[in-house]
Order: sequence, then C-alpha cells, then structure tokens
Amino acid sequence: MDIRTISEENREKINDFIKFHWFTTDMVVRGELVDMKILDGFAAYDLDTIVGLVTYRIAGGWCEIMSLDSLREKQGVGTALINKVAEKAAEAKCSKIKLITTNDNIDAIRFYQRRGFDMARLYHDSLETARKLKPSIPMLGNFDIPLRHEIEFDMKL
Ligand SMILES: CC(C)(COP(=O)(O)OP(=O)(O)OC[C@H]1O[C@@H](n2cnc3c(N)ncnc32)[C@H](O)[C@@H]1OP(=O)(O)O)[C@@H](O)C(=O)NCCC(=O)NCCS
Repeated sequence: MDIRTISEENREKINDFIKFHWFTTDMVVRGELVDMKILDGFAAYDLDTIVGLVTYRIAGGWCEIMSLDSLREKQGVGTALINKVAEKAAEAKCSKIKLITTNDNIDAIRFYQRRGFDMARLYHDSLETARKLKPSIPMLGNFDIPLRHEIEFDMKL
C-alpha cells in the first residue's frame, strides 16, 4: 500500500471514488453543505486501485477531517491515512484536529477514541437540519440505529 496526496493528477479518480461510495460529492457537516470535490486529502493505493481515502480542510488554526473511508478494513489503512493528516496539520501549526461522526457509527466512535480523539460536542438532532439540505440522508444508519446526531471529536496536537 502507498499513500498519495490528492492532486490535479488523481483528482478525477478520487471524485469517482467519492461518487461511487457516497452516491454524491456533497456532504453536510453541522448544517453546512460541503463540496467534497475540492477538499485536500490523501488516498491509499494498492498498485493503482484506491483502497482508502481521507479528506480534510485547514482553517483558523484547526484541521478538520471531513471524510475517512477504508475499503480494506482492519489492515491499518484508516490509521495510516489519519497519521498523514496529523503530519500535515502539525506542519500547518494547527492546534487541534477535529471531525464529526454520526451516532450510529459505532466502529468510528471506537476507532477515533483509540487513536487519541476525545468526544467534544454533541449536535443533537442535527441530522434533521442536514436532511433539509440533503434529503438523501437515510433515517436509519448502521445496525438500523436511527440516524439523528452528529458527535464531534477532537485531538490536541
Ligand atoms: C472507521 C474506518 C475508517 C477504519 O478503517 P480501517 O482501515 O479498518 O482502520 P485500521 O485498520 O487502521 O484500524 C481498524 C482496526 O483494525 C485493527 N487492525 C489494524 N491492522 C490490523 C491487522 N493487521 N490485524 C488485525 N487488526 C488490525 C486496528 O487495531 C483497529 O482496531 P481498533 O480500532 O480497535 O484500534 C473504516 O471502518 C471505515 O471505512 N468505515 C466506514 C466509513 C466510516 O465510518 N468512516 C468514518 C466516519 S467519519
């Protein structure tokens, strides 16, 4: 596996990956519609196949992870991608890395806490607002858990 920065060279393939796995390139975070096609990030490759992707943005001294997907789970892909973002955030002198996950995402809630992230905020019932911007967000999430809240995690650098 090797990790490559999102660049002009691979942007089209990255956007195809996002469309294929997310069915759209728009995401809603804390009530904000975000165009994933223009985010910075890193992709994990097995030869020329993308097997993982992390996107992030840096602003106001914070780095925010916007998405993280691994197609080869439990082989270190997710951790390697998070570490690349942490390196980038440290270079940019960010004080924290933050991210949002949803209340149904038990795997992510475990994964981030085991990697030093702490639960910082709860955006209660925020998916109701998010569905107004993106009606395709389902009512049920993983394990048929009602998809209702965003949980913010952060990690000091
Ligand atoms: C959450 C997610 C990104 C994790 O990616 P991943 O590639 O499985 O991550 P890793 O392999 O680095 O780590 C996952 C677990 O596998 C374990 N692992 C890593 N390599 C391993 C190996 N060779 N053998 C056994 N276990 C291994 C890790 O220790 C980790 O366990 P832990 O979380 O209990 O510490 C992935 O499950 C995913 O894409 N989920 C769907 C999308 C999503 O929910 N994204 C996050 C929303 S913000």
